[in-house]
Amino acid sequence: MKTRIVTVAARKGGVGKTTLAYEVAWLLGAPLVDLEFDDGSATRMWGYRHEDRMRAPLLDALERGTTPRPISGYHKPDLVPCHPDFQLNQPPAEEMADTLTRWAQEWGTEYVVVDTHGGGSPSGDGALAAAAAVVVPTPLKTKDLNATEGMVREMPDYPLILVPSMVPRVPGAAEIRRIGSIVQGTPVVVAEPVPYVRGIETRKKRVAITSEDPPTKANSEFVAALHSLVSYIKVRTDA
Ligand SMILES: Nc1ncnc2c1ncn2[C@@H]1O[C@H](COP(=O)(O)OP(=O)(O)OP(=O)(O)O)[C@@H](O)[C@H]1O
Ligand SMILES: [Mg+2]
Repeated sequence: MKTRIVTVAARKGGVGKTTLAYEVAWLLGAPLVDLEFDDGSATRMWGYRHEDRMRAPLLDALERGTTPRPISGYHKPDLVPCHPDFQLNQPPAEEMADTLTRWAQEWGTEYVVVDTHGGGSPSGDGALAAAAAVVVPTPLKTKDLNATEGMVREMPDYPLILVPSMVPRVPGAAEIRRIGSIVQGTPVVVAEPVPYVRGIETRKKRVAITSEDPPTKANSEFVAALHSLVSYIKVRTDA
């Protein structure tokens, strides 16, 4: 079985990458490789504190050429945590791509999910190159749409899946049309929107939102959208 890599990436920060990566990894039962070296990362969301650890699994594995063992937790995805030093110690794109492909093969899971640094990085470019699907969260705001448009223009040959993210209950018609026009004439596809949910920013729980069964009323539409996104990823990656 070939393990498929799903990379979550965007040209802009704060668009919902980490939130989606965390939930998608949980629902796919996939290890989550965190390549985000800044704070606010999946590693933090998971509750992993590099300050309290002697080893840095990602850096150690890259340095030694070994395959890290993802750590497990309760109702959250298995994780290869990132480390702040990764910013200056990240491998070039091609090496990162080969490394992720090798780890994916060795783990032998159906999927591996990779979260990346907003705005791009060499390692993020590697994660894009290795991906069977690239999830691009895109809030329906002009700046975010501009950033996504730039990405689609530059990499229409990548398996991009645009995900309208943090979408208000009543989205603007012009923004919806704009996302349609961005992908028109390209092989890039648009997934169902993921709604804006109040309280996600201040959420303290570390369990995946989609692991809560049944979901709270406030989260139910978000959870339904995530399930639908995951089905769509499976279809697009031919699982
Ligand atoms: N669907 C949503 N509804 C409401 N808030 C959300 C939603 N998705 C994400 N957020 C919040 O928006 C902020 C940015 O989200 P997130 O950290 O997932 O984005 P990011 O693209 O990974 O950011 P960065 O570029 O900093 O890595 C966070 O505070 C998060 O809790
Ligand atoms: Mg993030």
